[in-house]
Formats: sequence, structure tokens, C-alpha cells
Amino acid sequence: MSERTKIAALLKSTDENIQVQAKGWVRTKRGNKHVSFIALNDGSCLQNIQVVADNATISEDILKEVQTGACLSVIGQLVPSEGVGQNVEIKAEEIMVLGKSHAEQYPLQPKKHSFEYLREIAHLRPRTNTFGAVFRLRHAMAFATHQFFNQKGFFNLHTPIITGSDAEGAGEMFRVTTLDPQHPPLNEAGEVDFKKDFFGKETSLTVSGQLEGELGALALSEIYTFGPTFRAENSNTTRHLAEFWMIEPEMAFYDLNDSIALVQEYLKYLIDYALTHGADDIDFLEKRLLEEEKTKPAQERSPMTLTEKLRFVLENDFEVLTYTEAIDILKNSKPNKKKKFQYPIEDWGADLQSEHERYLVEKHFAKPVVLKDYPKDIKAFYMRLNEDKKTVAAMDVLFPGIGEIVGGSQREERLEVLTSRMAEMKIEEKEMDWYLDTRRFGSAPHSGFGLGFERLMLFITGLTNIRDVIPFPRTPGNADF
Ligand code: 4AD
Ligand code: MG
Repeated sequence: MSERTKIAALLKSTDENIQVQAKGWVRTKRGNKHVSFIALNDGSCLQNIQVVADNATISEDILKEVQTGACLSVIGQLVPSEGVGQNVEIKAEEIMVLGKSHAEQYPLQPKKHSFEYLREIAHLRPRTNTFGAVFRLRHAMAFATHQFFNQKGFFNLHTPIITGSDAEGAGEMFRVTTLDPQHPPLNEAGEVDFKKDFFGKETSLTVSGQLEGELGALALSEIYTFGPTFRAENSNTTRHLAEFWMIEPEMAFYDLNDSIALVQEYLKYLIDYALTHGADDIDFLEKRLLEEEKTKPAQERSPMTLTEKLRFVLENDFEVLTYTEAIDILKNSKPNKKKKFQYPIEDWGADLQSEHERYLVEKHFAKPVVLKDYPKDIKAFYMRLNEDKKTVAAMDVLFPGIGEIVGGSQREERLEVLTSRMAEMKIEEKEMDWYLDTRRFGSAPHSGFGLGFERLMLFITGLTNIRDVIPFPRTPGNADF
């Protein structure tokens, strides 16, 4: 018996009139009394392969079970196709139904379903064209990430998911405990005694692998992490997940500007990779978006197609400016003067909201923007204090349609400056001793950043809700499947 070949390979095959075996799921079946045309998809690519089943060869009993959603194994001749849209098709000699489906109850109809509806049907969502495209592109971006950093001599460091420290100091962490919530052990003061907990202390799911990453960089020079991160912020937006993936490179001997150069090179590499290796999927998503755009009023339609947007970012330098320059632009902007911003910009020191970021990126510069040198009071403790003592060497990369996609900084490598910043921010030195040791023994200038993988995927796919670029989204109130 012939061995199974993936549909992606069969469709590219130039060998004709050979026996092949394909396995996959039925998308549609049509035909007449004499012959059935089955569209079979195995997820290896967007396209289906057409299986032609002649009643003389395939029994009626079998054909009855070939229903939408059923899983088949098909053996037959790979022959040139007379139908439009495909070069080859399989002339079936044998069909085995590996898994039946009940077409009447099958929740996917051959029409477009809303994303909200699909999010509720975990097992079928990945079988749609759209999610197949998204998840293949997601894989491509993960693979390209490893390839990019590997080529540059970075090492992938696995940082812990369970942690005893709060890297971003925002305190929005999920607790990890094995204590009985009904009857936790209490100490003499009547408080929960975490000494009796699994790790002998309070622990949480990590918000970032950076602090551990810094230890790696100060030994291996250049590392990157790529792992899940967790934030218990109750933000029900289209850009926030409670569980998301982050890529965090950390580089010894890099200053902020070196880091800004690296992030541009990396993002462009990813976009180029997607356009080169995911062209079919991007093309499909682009057509889908164009259809959707047609339903919108003219002034809300995007002036660029998905591919044009990707190419634009690939071919243009990002605009790099300081927070202070950005505040000046925003202060004097039309929406600020006309009181159109929900949070008006008045004074230096204000935290930028996504409406401000999007104004800069989408209206003012009309390209990706890197903002740097933020006021120290709105940024994390580990960022390097600038000469002015007011700002830190931070940088955020802002993308059109998304806002912040990357956050990073040069790290404070000077022990005294770092500990006095920690004191200002009321971070216990004792808790962070293991981290401060890097500054005690061979400290070095170093920098790094974090790319939100799902925010990247929003940009690459053109989708607008972050729940639709991760296979199993976790958001406030949602942890099904
Ligand atoms: O800006 P953030 O909080 O930076 C850090 O965590 C640093 N430790 C990174 C570093 O310097 N190594 O998060 C980094 C990125 C954001 O720019 C955003 O893209 C993404 O992570 N992100 C989220 N993505 C989805 N859902 C959320 N709730 C996110 N919070 C942050
Ligand atoms: Mg940030």
C-alpha cells in the first residue's frame, strides 16, 4: 500500500498517474448519482485536494458516510484535474472512513461564521480556512524567531514559569499554591502561613522571563526566552490576554540604541519570512479582510491591503524619537486641542494611552514608531537612569492598528543606582538578592526587550481581536477547553 502524502505535497507534485494515499477531513461533498467530488483538507496547507469518487468503484455505503467533517483515508491515482483551481486531483480507488461525522449536527456550515461563534467550538475552529491560516503563520513566526536568533549566535534560555518575584512590579499576578483554600494553615498572627505552601513561600505565574534572562545574558552574552507569560490585569480589550507568549532577548554589552537596531532587524526579518513562506495564507487573509472592508463606511476603510501594510513596514525605517518629543507633538496635536482625546495631554510625565500611541503611529508619522527615554516614574525599576535623572533608557515600539508591540530598555547595571531606585519604589532588596548579585559580581551594560507574540500575530494576520490569533485564548471570565 502506498504511504500517506500530505496534501500540500500532492498539490505541488509533478508526478502524475501515480498511486497516492491522502488522509484528511471532508470540507464539502457534491456530485450526482454517478460521481462524487470530495474536497479534502489535512491542514498542511490552505488548499483542499479534490477526490473524485466514481460509484462504480466506491460503494454507496461508504459514500453515505463521506459527510462534512468526516475523516477519510483515500487511495487512488493522482491525475491531472479538469476542474478549475487545481492542477491535480485524486481518482479514488479505495476510501476508508476513519472517523464519521454527523453532517446534520456539524456546527460548521459552508458559509462564513463569526469569530465569536467559532471561539465557542474549540475542536472545529482550527478546521476553518481562517484559523488554519492563522495557526500556520503562527508556527512560521515561532520558527523564524528561533532561526533569527540562532543565526545571530543567541542562545534560547528557558526561564521559569513559576516564580517568587514580580518582574514588572505591577503586582498583577496569578497565585500558585497547593494550600487548601478552605482551611489554609495559619501562623501565630493568624495570617496564611505560606511557609507551609509547596515552595515554602508565596509564588505566582511569571509576568516576564526578563530578570532570569539577565542572569543568562551576563554569562552567555546573548540569550532569548520564548515562553508563556501571565497577567491578571482585568483588561477586557482586543489587545490583552491573561496568558500570552513573549520573546525576550537580553544582550550583554548592548546599549539602548543597539537594542533599537536589533528590534527593527528582528521585526523586519519576521515580516519578510511571513511574506516569503506564508504567502498563500496571507493572501487568503487579505482577501477575507477586503470582503470585510467592503461592509464598512468608506472613511473607515484601510487605505492599504494587508500585504501593502506588511511591505510598507518592511521597507521603511521606524521613526525613533524621545518621549519628550512625543509629548510636544501630542500637546500641539489637533485632537488634543479640540479635546478629542479621552485623556488630554497636559504635562510632561503623563503615561501615554493607546489613543496617543495610535495618533502618533497612524496619523502623525504613518509608520512604526520607537519611543524612548520615558519618565522614570512610569517605568519599571530595572531601567537605566539617564544623565538627566528624570528619564530612563526605555523604549516602546508602536505599530499601526495595534499600539505597543514591544517594550524594552537598557538595564540599570550600577548597583547603587539600582538599589536606590528599588528603595524609591518600595521593592524589598532581600527578595531580589539573587538578581542584585549580577551587579555585585562582574556587572556589565546590557539591554533587552520583550515582543508580545500575539500582538505580532495581529499585525501579520490583519485580524483585530487578540483572541483570534492564539489557539486557546485566556481572558477574564474565559478559560474553557
Ligand atoms: O511592556 P512589557 O510589560 O515588558 C516586559 O514585560 C519586559 N520585561 C520586556 C523586556 O524588556 N524583556 O511587555 C512586553 C510586551 C508588550 O509590548 C506587549 O506586546 C506584550 O508584551 N504584552 C501583552 N500581550 C498580550 N496581552 C497582554 N496582557 C500583554 N501585556 C504585555
Ligand atoms: Mg510595556
